[in-house]
Amino acid sequence: MAAVPSVIPLLRASVMNYEIVAQAPHHLPKIDCLLDRTFGPDRHGKTVYRLREQAEAIPELSKVALDEDGTLLASLRFWPISIEGAAAKLLGPLTVEPSIQGKGVGRALVRNGLALGKAHGYRLCVVVGEPEYYQPYGFIPAVPRGLVLPGPVDPHRFQVLEMTPGALDGVSGLIGPGVPLAGSKGGLAERVG
Ligand SMILES: CC(C)(COP(=O)(O)OP(=O)(O)OC[C@H]1O[C@@H](n2cnc3c(N)ncnc32)[C@H](O)[C@@H]1OP(=O)(O)O)[C@@H](O)C(=O)NCCC(=O)NCCS
Repeated sequence: MAAVPSVIPLLRASVMNYEIVAQAPHHLPKIDCLLDRTFGPDRHGKTVYRLREQAEAIPELSKVALDEDGTLLASLRFWPISIEGAAAKLLGPLTVEPSIQGKGVGRALVRNGLALGKAHGYRLCVVVGEPEYYQPYGFIPAVPRGLVLPGPVDPHRFQVLEMTPGALDGVSGLIGPGVPLAGSKGGLAERVG
């Protein structure tokens, strides 16, 4: 497994300092509040939540951004999924405190999570989100590649990333819940975000 630091040292932006660290159980209530504020309380009705309900977030890939006082600024989790038997991970939810959006914290979390996922052996990543936000990482539309979610989704927002070239070759079909790849420590005491 490639060496990727599990904790990113304090990043110095022009207007703020923050660090990316492993999500801990005491972060969960604050993450839920932030998700309610940024996505709304009806977020649980989305199809991706059906997949999250059936698995636990991948602990090694569940990160938060904290300011110097330890205040939670942002959160990103990944969930194990399966595409007709092929292991993959589902990105999200990604949420950033509204007062500090647009300062690169979301991008830092996504880059960190994708690098860590690759180091842990994940070859495919699925997201439902803004194409303009995810295309710079290499995400492409998932529907033309034959991927199907188990419920309604805006096809424009449904995307997939080959973390290893050719990882989608021969992989298509219905996405279901998965299990973390070998080497994972197992789930945290949480189920949905
Ligand atoms: C979307 C979100 C996660 C982005 O995080 P962020 O820290 O504000 O974004 P960053 O500062 O890392 O932005 C990186 C780039 O993406 C762009 N961007 C930010 N939000 C975007 C959006 N919703 N759609 C498209 N592009 C977006 C930024 O302009 C920036 O572009 P630049 O590098 O050319 O300047 C954050 O704004 C948020 O939590 N929004 C509410 C929840 C939400 O919509 N989450 C879903 C993500 S699909």
